[in-house]
Amino acid sequence: MVSRHLIIVIENFDPKDVGAIDDVLRRSYDADHSFRSQIERYLLLQPDGSFVARENRRVVGFGASIDYGAFSYIGLIGTDPNFQNRGIGHMIVDKILKRLDERKCPAALLDARPAAAPLYQQYGFVEEDLTDVFTRKNMPLTKTEHPQNIATLAREEISELESFDHPIFGAQRRDLILSFWKDDPKRFLVSRDSLGRIDGYIVAQRRRIGPWIATSEIVAERLLSQALGFSFENEEPIVFVSRSNNEARDLLGGFGFEFQRTLRHMRRGRKVKRERRTKIYGQASLGLG
Ligand SMILES: CC(C)(COP(=O)(O)OP(=O)(O)OC[C@H]1O[C@@H](n2cnc3c(N)ncnc32)[C@H](O)[C@@H]1OP(=O)(O)O)[C@@H](O)C(=O)NCCC(=O)NCCS
Repeated sequence: MVSRHLIIVIENFDPKDVGAIDDVLRRSYDADHSFRSQIERYLLLQPDGSFVARENRRVVGFGASIDYGAFSYIGLIGTDPNFQNRGIGHMIVDKILKRLDERKCPAALLDARPAAAPLYQQYGFVEEDLTDVFTRKNMPLTKTEHPQNIATLAREEISELESFDHPIFGAQRRDLILSFWKDDPKRFLVSRDSLGRIDGYIVAQRRRIGPWIATSEIVAERLLSQALGFSFENEEPIVFVSRSNNEARDLLGGFGFEFQRTLRHMRRGRKVKRERRTKIYGQASLGLG
């Protein structure tokens, strides 16, 4: 436990900090996995939206945000357990919200652990939904050929996919989509209807399934069954989805996923128009929405 007076500096992070941030997040979240790829994605997409807290140059806290224009998403907030309850979490949230206000971002969304919800309530965040976490344990791979209407996404299809995604997600996230495609184009699957129009897509990340967007349950089901043909770290893919998306819950249950825990989906600022309760079957992550 730290008892002396702390001098904390909140500032932008750079690539040299990734290892130290990962260490702080692992310990604050008590996680058995690395956050490195998530931290690096913020660095790639919008490095000025995330902040480290330093005490005497050492990283003791972190918080990330991404401004999509129509709204932003806040995530990965953590303080080194040896430095908690000393005001660092507040300083990080202050800094993130100040930047978003300066950019005139009309709304901020986040998925809070229940214990952290009171922290965000102090800043005017209100709960508007729940976000459930599902995992699928020890299920055999179900590798099958892609049906005719599902294929890996080609580079030249990204603009079309972005136009499909935008009204459903509620904001433009082309850079994020591109970054998932670059991670591994083979794990980015797109579905088309009988007229050749995109009607859904799914990304099989290494640990998560998402974004997973579909205009109907049948499309969502076909995409999921294809995505489950890939191997995942620990063979336990995770899905984050709105409690109100009943079709997603039914589908996940049918594919052997189990409910793990719930987060509070909170908003500050203007109400956002998006298809969170219907066509969004899986978020990209908790921090990216
Ligand atoms: C949430 C967290 C970042 C707060 O960091 P901190 O530096 O201790 O925060 P502060 O000292 O500024 O403020 C503490 C506030 O956090 C809340 N808090 C205290 N213990 C907490 C805990 N174990 N988990 C979440 N929030 C907690 C309290 O509401 C307190 O608010 P108040 O003092 O204004 O009433 C830190 O507890 C943490 O890293 N928790 C684990 C990871 C996590 O849950 N992150 C948030 C995910 S949404």
